[in-house]
Amino acid sequence: MIEFNDVFKSFGTQEVLQGTQFTVEKGQSLVIMGPSGSGKSVILKHLIGLLQPDRGAIRIMGKDVAKLDRDGLQQLRRDMGYLFQHSALINWLSVFDNIALPLRETTSMSEKDIEERVMHVLGLVRLEEARIKLPGEISGGMQKRVGLARALVTKPSIILYDEPEAGLDPEMSTSVSRMMRRLKEEHGMTSVTVTHSVNCALTVADTLAVFEKGKFLISGPPTEVLNSDNQRVREFLGAPID
Ligand SMILES: Nc1ncnc2c1ncn2[C@@H]1O[C@H](COP(=O)(O)OP(=O)(O)O)[C@@H](O)[C@H]1O
Ligand SMILES: [Mg+2]
Repeated sequence: MIEFNDVFKSFGTQEVLQGTQFTVEKGQSLVIMGPSGSGKSVILKHLIGLLQPDRGAIRIMGKDVAKLDRDGLQQLRRDMGYLFQHSALINWLSVFDNIALPLRETTSMSEKDIEERVMHVLGLVRLEEARIKLPGEISGGMQKRVGLARALVTKPSIILYDEPEAGLDPEMSTSVSRMMRRLKEEHGMTSVTVTHSVNCALTVADTLAVFEKGKFLISGPPTEVLNSDNQRVREFLGAPID
């Protein structure tokens, strides 16, 4: 489903990706943890074609992302939802209109069909009653769920989560993680998640990978990685779980 094959990417003299490699099968969930500024968001941006690799290849559903033309790239982006680190909602648009935006911009769906689809994803994130509110009138956790609904509205088969817990208290963070797991279990969503939360990783990961200095130090089932003997992995993730 997703293949990131020996990818190199530098910005000036800064080598951010140095032979980065991973695959994600359909319906599986990969969680990436690693220090701030190590290049985790850069990995996600390569997946949606916002950045191009210097070397190596990225294939998504069999297609080489670097070789897509404009139409191909637009199709790919409809097929991939992206939950940004900060929800990135438009302040002067209602919850409903924020979620409808990707449909209005990238499809020719009728208003009736748009309404139906938006209400469906609002139901998935349990926010039907907030549809006419403005982003400033709802809590941070609700804003995050609106961001999630917007990422889901084009019916993507892959979803990318960039620090979904950022700015949330532990309770809301847990609720967002559970929602992510539900999307995987009930809708077979394939996902790549970047997070600093061990709880989020334990809730959603099939595979947990720790990224540092351009490469993955380790990757495997979350409990295995959390109990790893690797000194650096232990330092980064904190005390192992019992
Ligand atoms: N478009 C860009 N141009 C130049 N440098 C960038 C760009 N995007 C990211 N970087 C740099 O790459 C490094 C990794 O960034 P990022 O992937 O955002 O880190 P994080 O792991 O915290 O998500 C940072 O040093 C950042 O400044
Ligand atoms: Mg980041």
